[in-house]
This record gives sequence, C-alpha cells and structure tokens, in this order.
Amino acid sequence: MHAPDPDVSKAKFVPPAPKPWADSHLKSAWLRSAAVLPTVIRNPIESFSAEAYQSPYVMSRMFQQPMAMVHDPDLLRHIFVENANLLVAAPIRQKILKPALREGMLTAEGDIWRRARRTIAPVFAPRHVAGFATSMRNVTDDYVERLKHETGEIRIADHMTRLAYLVLSDTLFSGDLHNDSENVIADVAYFLQNLSRPDPIDFFAVPNWFPRLTKFRGSGALKRLRNSVRITAEQRQLRINAGEDLPQDFLTLLLKTRDEEQGGLTLDEVEDNIITFIAAGHETTARALAWTLYLLAFDPSARQRCLDEVDALDIDGSAPHEWGESLPWLTACFEESMRLYPPAGIITRKLNGTIEHGDFHLEDGTVIVTSPWVLHRHQALWDHPEQFRPDRFFGENRNRINKFAFLPFGLGHRVCIGNRFACKKLRSSWFNCCVILSLNIPASLRHGR
Ligand code: HEM
Repeated sequence: MHAPDPDVSKAKFVPPAPKPWADSHLKSAWLRSAAVLPTVIRNPIESFSAEAYQSPYVMSRMFQQPMAMVHDPDLLRHIFVENANLLVAAPIRQKILKPALREGMLTAEGDIWRRARRTIAPVFAPRHVAGFATSMRNVTDDYVERLKHETGEIRIADHMTRLAYLVLSDTLFSGDLHNDSENVIADVAYFLQNLSRPDPIDFFAVPNWFPRLTKFRGSGALKRLRNSVRITAEQRQLRINAGEDLPQDFLTLLLKTRDEEQGGLTLDEVEDNIITFIAAGHETTARALAWTLYLLAFDPSARQRCLDEVDALDIDGSAPHEWGESLPWLTACFEESMRLYPPAGIITRKLNGTIEHGDFHLEDGTVIVTSPWVLHRHQALWDHPEQFRPDRFFGENRNRINKFAFLPFGLGHRVCIGNRFACKKLRSSWFNCCVILSLNIPASLRHGR
C-alpha cells in the first residue's frame, strides 16, 4: 500500500538525513540502552535502527522499561484511536516538559486536560482564523520588507525562528507582551533550546524534586518569560473588566473563557497555556517554514511552480485565510516538507492496560513510541521516501495517502489543537497560516535572494 509514485522519470532532490542507528547487537538490554542513551539525548531521531524503517513495529527495552516502536497505519489507528482511553503521557516526556509547562494542554492529563481542551477549542475555530490570518499577513509583509534590505548570506532558519516568534506574539497578545523586547525574544529562544532536552537522570527512577543540572540553564529565562506573561494577562483582565474594546487575540479569547461558565480556565491555567502555545507553536512552525524554503531552494522547478502560483493569486483582492485554496502546489510542497522533516519528530505514550491486535501484543506499562520522522520515511509506505517529491501531495495523489501514514500534527484525541479545527476550506487553521507565511517568502526570493 505504497503512496503513489507520481514521477519516477526525473532525478529528484535527496535532502540530507542521518543514518539509522547501527544496532550494537549487545545481548544485555541494559548495555544496549547505555550505548544508545547519549544519542537519545542528543538527537532521538538518530536512535532508530534500520529495522524501524522497515517493520510495522519493533519491541525493545530501555533499561527496565518495555518499549514498542510502532510505524504501521493500522496499528497506530488501533492504539491511538480505538484504545485512546488506555494511553497516558509517557513519564519521560512529563519529566522533561511538565516542570516548564505545568498544567498547559500539552502536559495536563485527565479532567484538567479535558476541561482545557473543551474550553480552548473554540479559540481555534474557523471564525477566528480570518483575524489571525490577517495579523500573520501583516507581520510577514513587514518582515519580508526588512529581509529584502539584508545583504550577504542570510541564515534562513534564524529568520524563520524570529518570524515565527513575531507572528506568535502578535496572535497571542497583539504584541502587548509586558517587557516585549530583544530580551524576551532571547528568553524564548533559551527556554525552547533547553525545553525538550532530557537530562540523563530522567531515564532513571529519580524523583522530580531532585535537581537536574542541565535544567538550571533555562530556568532563569523561563521565570522571566512566565513573569511577563502573567503581568500581561493581569493587565488584560483589568481591561476586560473595564469593558474596553480589545484585540480578539488568544489572550483575550482565553481570558474570556473564564467569565462564560463555571469550569473556565483559572489565571494559572491561562498562563500555563500561553507558555504551552509558545512552546508548541514557535519552533514547530519555524522549522516547517525553514525546511520548506530549504527544499525549494534545491529544487528550482518546484520553486518556479510556487512562484507562478503566487503570481497568479490576487493577493490584495482576496482574504489571507483563503489563499491556501488557490495554492495547491505550494501546499503540496509544504506537506512534502513536513513529511521529510516533521517538526515534531517523536510522539510517546504509556499504556495503562494491554492491547491485542492479531499477532501484536502490548503488555501493561509499555511505552509506545511513534516517530513521524520514521513513519514518513518508512519503506513499506512510501516510494523513494528519501526524495523530495511534492507531487505525492498534489491533486488526486493526496487522497491516496493513508491518513495514518502522514502524521505531522500527531493523531488521536491529542492531535495538535491547531490542526483539529479544520474547516471544509482549510486543511487546518495553522497549516493554512503557515502557507501564508511561506507564500511571502518565495515572493521575496524572486527579488534576487
Ligand atoms: C507546523 C506546526 C505544528 C506542528 C507540526 C505541530 C505538531 C504537533 C503534534 C505532533 C502534536 C501532538 C503531540 C503528542 O501527541 O504528543 C501537537 C500537539 C499540540 N500542539 Fe501543535 N504543532 C504545530 C503548531 C502548533 C501551534 C501553532 C500551536 C498553538 C498556538 C500548537 C499547539 C499544540 C497544543 C496545545 C498541543 C497539545 C494538544 C493536546 O495534548 O491536547 N501547535 N502539535
């Protein structure tokens, strides 16, 4: 059940990727775990062996912990959709993220998560997308204008990180963040740099209160960032109470959920969720944009097709949130980029219970790992997975791709909330906004960059 092979005749760009982990074949699970641990900490994508790219699943152990690496669409659906009620966050992920994100939606569980998801869902509803898209367009227009005046070589990844922050800050707080300055941008960068790195002792049964040396580095930045978010939220709340006319950004919308009915978010939860949106939405978007531009830079004909689409679009005569509809090729390039370089490379859960599916058996307590990176390059699912071929996602080909073979936004009930609220016209609100962002950049590339 390969995704279609639309065009085998032309030589295609093969972007770089690390080699799979060369399994040491050590007999002892403990020694094998110790051998792979530094790689897991440095870049977990590199810790998957060649077998993971070929088999539906691979069972293993990380020290004492039973693990299942699952990369089969049918099994993934069975686990993450049909047995979603048996899954909880993997302890290792909670150890890494929870101290920073607390009860934000990414790390909350049980009733707190359910209430947050239900309360926040309307904020991502299509009716708010138009406003967000316009704000994204304005921020991006300004940014591209500045980029045009840069001379010499530019590091596109750094620019996309900055642009993604500016967009996020505008849609979250309309640029009102208390103390918004170079310092906050540096704090966000520092916070994100240190956020998702595990500390070696996270892999052992060491209690959470035990200090992790590697976490000290980001803690000052996180404290300052939280403080700024808190002050901004309190000031905005005062303005809501005073009945002022306010921007309909995330902050206003989140704070308003507090008035509507009992069970809305507490001020602490608003703060945790704003921090979570920064954590979940900043680097992911920046990476998606940077890789798309990188790939287009190496494929002149794909890039020219994007530029032709952009030229044909009536940019000023149509609403930004509808642009994506007229840009099917650019959208295909963007999706192909997220296939090759999924911004969230690993999804983990712990199983509370057992799962049987044909010959497949998962014992209670197993940690389930699925990597969009491995899945998107799986040899049983894609033709020439290593090649950049946007045609896979273009026109009818797109409909032939198994829904559970392409998971840049995750799956099941904890799928990315930005993606969850797709309306008929837009595959997803955030996705569409990313298309808007990348649209402007190829336009600037045309001006000689
Ligand atoms: C290209 C951009 C993005 C990608 C690829 C992406 C990817 C993902 C993935 C894979 C998950 C699931 C994680 C898991 O199951 O463990 C997720 C969850 C989440 N994402 Fe995104 N994301 C993106 C942008 C955003 C943005 C812009 C926001 C918010 C402003 C956001 C907010 C969230 C939240 C709150 C969750 C947790 C949902 C829950 O657990 O209920 N994401 N994202």
